[in-house]
Amino acid sequence: MSTTRKRLFIKTYGCQMNVYDSDRMKDVLTPLGYESADTPEGADLVILNTCHIREKAAEKVYSELGRLRPLKDEKAASGGMTIAVAGCVAQAEGAEIMKRAPVVDLVVGPQTYHKLPELIAQAHRAKGEALDTEFEVEDKFDRLGSDRQVEGYSAFVTVQEGCDKFCTFCVVPYTRGAEWSRPVDQIVAEIRALAAKGIREVTLLGQNVNAFHGAPPSGREDEGAWGLGKLVRHVALIGGIERIRFTTSHPRDMDEDLIQAFADTPKLMPYFHLPVQAGSDKILKSMNRQHTAEEYIAIIDRLRAARPDIAISGDMIIGFPGETDADFEATLDLVRRVNYASCFSFKYSKRPGTPGAAMFNQVDEGVKSARLAVLQELLSDQQAAFNESMIGQTLPVLFEKPGRLDGQLHGRSPYLQSVHVEGPAELIGQIGEVRIEAASRNSLSGSLTGSKRSAA
Ligand code: 5AD
Ligand code: SF4
Repeated sequence: MSTTRKRLFIKTYGCQMNVYDSDRMKDVLTPLGYESADTPEGADLVILNTCHIREKAAEKVYSELGRLRPLKDEKAASGGMTIAVAGCVAQAEGAEIMKRAPVVDLVVGPQTYHKLPELIAQAHRAKGEALDTEFEVEDKFDRLGSDRQVEGYSAFVTVQEGCDKFCTFCVVPYTRGAEWSRPVDQIVAEIRALAAKGIREVTLLGQNVNAFHGAPPSGREDEGAWGLGKLVRHVALIGGIERIRFTTSHPRDMDEDLIQAFADTPKLMPYFHLPVQAGSDKILKSMNRQHTAEEYIAIIDRLRAARPDIAISGDMIIGFPGETDADFEATLDLVRRVNYASCFSFKYSKRPGTPGAAMFNQVDEGVKSARLAVLQELLSDQQAAFNESMIGQTLPVLFEKPGRLDGQLHGRSPYLQSVHVEGPAELIGQIGEVRIEAASRNSLSGSLTGSKRSAA
């Protein structure tokens, strides 16, 4: 294996699963001598880790590939540039990418990143044959993740992949395959190794993370699969890990044990991202969400009973086919009842191949934009009010990096808010108590009350 230094540029689109996967790709390529570069100019290997969730995702990838072509031509004289397309567009388009964009040397789907070294070698030998978009998820995790490089104090750990829900707007079940959970032993080994490298906070990731049903730790095979609540309590026992989060959950997969974990596991941060997508039962049904608005509210009520200060976050889609003014009002009504600490909202856009794209009653773009503006104003007010309610409170903040101004630190509250404070750089990587003095829509600021570390 050659270990001459080579420059690697990875462009990551989309979700945290892709951020995690890009980091794992770096890990498998480091032993081959690849070092991260900030720009594609002069890189030996460029990887576009793509996302298929937004409209025209594939088109955006093709135009990025067009921009890379002159860079590849320039590099031809000095060793050449290998261009790889990874991620969900790779999964969805497969060999078509190399046909349409001959600049591409290899295509690799989300489940086969551990084969990258092999695929790169194959691309160098015989262009046009380096394609691997199989769904061999078990293999992927067997081979990735045991020796991660870390930056900072917070890390993502994938515990579950794929989705069987088939919401009618969403492409994920087609690109990421069926639900699958990693075995508990493997997850714990990865988190222990992260803790040894200084990681204080882990976010357990999965497209349907609360559908987690991982094989129990070895020696406890008679127990049956573990749910997410049990996994969270187990991760809380790992020395050095002081904060646990997870994302993204589906209302259908909520169980009482996970709700109870918020009451009995102080290291589980009081922040819950639970997308609902719409507030009208008619639209929820047409989206195939498999729950009603009242069922969603009932879950929020149970979460708040278990952990009264829990911050609720969500995702909302505006203008799904058939959405009337009354349906939109139902969405606003649900938002008022939940009172979100933060919520992402999107205009519905068609994903080729999904049932929603074929529905005849599409909503006019102008109507979608007008409704989105109304919703976002309400959400923005709720977020501002949530942040303002922190003023006067003392919160434990995990300091992650220096702030933008000299002598400032940037950290996160338990509720995932950005917090800025004046303080010594030695506090970075630690949890300190901050008295919150000011709040804006996007962040909090205050002053240190001491440098005491605490579990939450
Ligand atoms: N149109 C708009 N938003 C979408 N999302 C997923 N698919 C679509 C689509 N076709 C949003 C959902 C999901 C988030 C990750 O992206 O709200 O929860
Ligand atoms: Fe997509 Fe629905 Fe699965 Fe979430 S639950 S990944 S929105 S199909």
